[in-house]
Amino acid sequence: MTTHEPAVDAATLREEVRKKYRDVACNPHGEHHFHTGRPLAKRLGYEQAVADAMPDVAVESFAGVANPFVLRRLPPGERVVDAGSGGGFDTFIARHQVGPGGRVVGVDMLREMLDKSHSSARLMGFENIEFREGIIEELPVEDGWADVVISNGVVNLCPDKPQAFAELWRVLRPGGSLQLADIANGRPVPESAVRNIDLWTA
Ligand SMILES: C[S@@+](CC[C@H](N)C(=O)[O-])C[C@H]1O[C@@H](n2cnc3c(N)ncnc32)[C@H](O)[C@@H]1O
Repeated sequence: MTTHEPAVDAATLREEVRKKYRDVACNPHGEHHFHTGRPLAKRLGYEQAVADAMPDVAVESFAGVANPFVLRRLPPGERVVDAGSGGGFDTFIARHQVGPGGRVVGVDMLREMLDKSHSSARLMGFENIEFREGIIEELPVEDGWADVVISNGVVNLCPDKPQAFAELWRVLRPGGSLQLADIANGRPVPESAVRNIDLWTA
């Protein structure tokens, strides 16, 4: 386990993040300061026919920042971890690509998102998808289990990023693929901004 002193209190930040995304799970069509749902999937170039075939409940809380599948289409049979799976949209896209012979595990820290993902998977009759509760800094997944790890718009919300990356790496098999969609800033962030929790979820 690698640790470094995050600039913000991890528990406080996670509580802020939970509050924000609980609203996205429970009130998907409400006012959010970022794009969500079907309009976002279209904007990010997801396969329209695949998204259209999904029930609203599986897409409406999608809140990613890019499309991790443009990097590489997942071959049939692969084992996938979706770290910070939210309402499960990317998890379902991954299932579509790896098919019935693959396995997909979504991990999220928010009960409301997990409950929603579970019911969507049942609705679509997917048996080789599983959602587990946990934080990505301590993924509830065995070492080297995954052929591919995807994550969409989550690492930027983590207080301890070296630990988050170490975990994404730990669950990936040697030679596996890490397909991240996230927000990166190539310039140093002033300490005062880092310490301002509101800016993390803004
Ligand atoms: C921006 S949303 C993205 C969700 C999903 N990847 C998507 O594209 O719709 C962030 C999600 O990550 C979850 N999350 C944030 N920090 C997390 C952490 N440290 N561990 C696990 N889940 C986390 C939140 O609960 C929320 O569901």
